[in-house]
Amino acid sequence: MGSTEESAKLRAARAAAELVQSGMTVGLGSGTTAAHLVQRLGERVRDEGLRFVGVPTSLATSELARGLRIPLRELDDVDALDINLDGADEVDPQFRMIKGRGGALLREKIVACVARKRVTIITQEKRVANLGQKAPLPVEVSPVGLRHTERRLKALGAETRIRTVPAGVPFLTDGGNAIIDCTFTGRFEPEELDATLQSVVGVFETGLFLGLCDLLIVGTGEGVDQVPAAGLRNRGCGG
Ligand code: A5P
Repeated sequence: MGSTEESAKLRAARAAAELVQSGMTVGLGSGTTAAHLVQRLGERVRDEGLRFVGVPTSLATSELARGLRIPLRELDDVDALDINLDGADEVDPQFRMIKGRGGALLREKIVACVARKRVTIITQEKRVANLGQKAPLPVEVSPVGLRHTERRLKALGAETRIRTVPAGVPFLTDGGNAIIDCTFTGRFEPEELDATLQSVVGVFETGLFLGLCDLLIVGTGEGVDQVPAAGLRNRGCGG
């Protein structure tokens, strides 16, 4: 990644960190953009005496936040989050997103679903006309029966790749699940595809985050654009 994109990421993360106020319960996302955000929040805790409680979406974020002395809670120990701040891999014009290329999608989606306001922090390059055309869609699945689940996903038209770690063994998420990266030829309707994939036995969650962005913060070469996503109804959380 170029230094221009890295600076754009940093700018977006810093703008998102300004949304946090003392007394809030805050979902802390995962990935490189979220890491900038957590760093900035750590600075605000240290320099301004900002007091908030963070709910991390991954072990990596949890470790980073702890090192910065940000007080943390488990998700099940809070009733709701005031705000969730997280990155994304792709965002389309309807604010539908792909997440999970960093491997934390199930936990990220559960946290996003509990938040009153969901903020996505990206750089301009991540805005796309159609989801899934540049890189595969991550699908989090049970490690039990992995090959069988993969076969079912193939039967739905996906070109599949079980995500592995360098030693060639399946990558496991913080929750101990596997990830199958799926590529579909041609465009797809995100809601339809999500429902189809969710119906496959062994699939726990897809990287399609639909109706889960209330505000997009985009770091650009020159500054930061804040784009509210008004009127979205499908929260993609069920129930
Ligand atoms: C983690 O699995 C992801 O959902 C991240 O939020 C997403 O991949 C964005 O990560 P970066 O900020 O590192 O691009």
